[in-house]
Amino acid sequence: MSMSGNRDTIALEDAEIIARRSFPGDQHIIRLAAPRCAAKATPGSFAHLTCDPTVPMRRPLSIMLADPTAGWVEFLFKPVGHGLARLAQRPIGDRVSVLGPIGRGFDPDPGRRRIIAIGGGVGIPPVYFLAERLRSSADFELLVLMGSEVPFPFELGDSSEAINGISDTVFKEVSDLAEWGIPSRLASNAGYGGCHAGHVPELARDWLEGCVYEELANVQIVACGPMAMLEATARLAQEFNLPCQVAVEEYMACGVGGCAGCTLLVQTPDGPAMKRVCVDGPVFEARDVFAQTAAAAI
Ligand SMILES: Cc1cc2nc3c(=O)[nH]c(=O)nc-3n(C[C@H](O)[C@H](O)[C@H](O)COP(=O)(O)OP(=O)(O)OC[C@H]3O[C@@H](n4cnc5c(N)ncnc54)[C@H](O)[C@@H]3O)c2cc1C
Ligand code: FES
Repeated sequence: MSMSGNRDTIALEDAEIIARRSFPGDQHIIRLAAPRCAAKATPGSFAHLTCDPTVPMRRPLSIMLADPTAGWVEFLFKPVGHGLARLAQRPIGDRVSVLGPIGRGFDPDPGRRRIIAIGGGVGIPPVYFLAERLRSSADFELLVLMGSEVPFPFELGDSSEAINGISDTVFKEVSDLAEWGIPSRLASNAGYGGCHAGHVPELARDWLEGCVYEELANVQIVACGPMAMLEATARLAQEFNLPCQVAVEEYMACGVGGCAGCTLLVQTPDGPAMKRVCVDGPVFEARDVFAQTAAAAI
């Protein structure tokens, strides 16, 4: 099953803001009526949005949910500069230009049933979307691990289910995921009760160390989050000899493959090459992005 997108799917729409919510830590979820984007969105793909008429450059945001029937897409964002800060102030009924969906999304290996999906900070949306899309999959079983240093922008519950290798003091779960039948666990350095005190890849390590050798042959990892988190995840995948896909973030200008402003050094079968994160990614094989890290770990 391929979940990746491609360039032929990109649409330009003038989308109305139809819902919005704000959460502690300056986090915002916005829902846009964008039926063409919703129809083609896949987990890991993103849209390039105008934040405000006064902000000339678009900003890339991962798609967190898409309803192709109702024709909307949803995004979670945390402003770091003036563009997303303006978007955070836009009321319901305002219109936003949406270019998307863009990029190659996650493409899980059908030969490995168990997916460990790791999301950190504003890298949580693609993992949440993957969980939603795979919630009734007969082919894959997910374990979602999320990390955040600000309160998680979701309703949380207390799980009574044990998860192999993970301490029973780590019991907070995302209620939506639980309703979809997908187990989840959370990590933070902010001291939130029921969450692992530390970084989210440590939770993945606990789970992997609880597996017997034969089980590992069935496991793959997908991840999205800050580069340091992705690098730690790539090292973990290398150590346990697991395939791992990472969704990478890079500053973008055009967002559609024309300016080479978002290039990243990636290993290819023909040697190192500069790849455009917007259309060649944002999802890459971890070993291709972190080749030197992986080599150093051997
Ligand atoms: C594929 C993809 C998906 C993403 N998904 C999400 C998401 O779901 N949620 C989310 O919150 N964020 C996401 N991001 C990150 C987000 O797009 C950026 O952080 C964005 O720049 C923030 O916009 P802003 O207006 O808040 O800050 P900006 O005004 O863009 O500035 C942020 C900071 O970066 C600096 N900066 C801006 N452009 C450059 C540049 N070209 N070179 C060097 N420094 C620069 C600025 O000076 C400032 O300090 C994603 C990025 C990518 C590439
Ligand atoms: S942002 Fe222009 S090529 Fe990627």
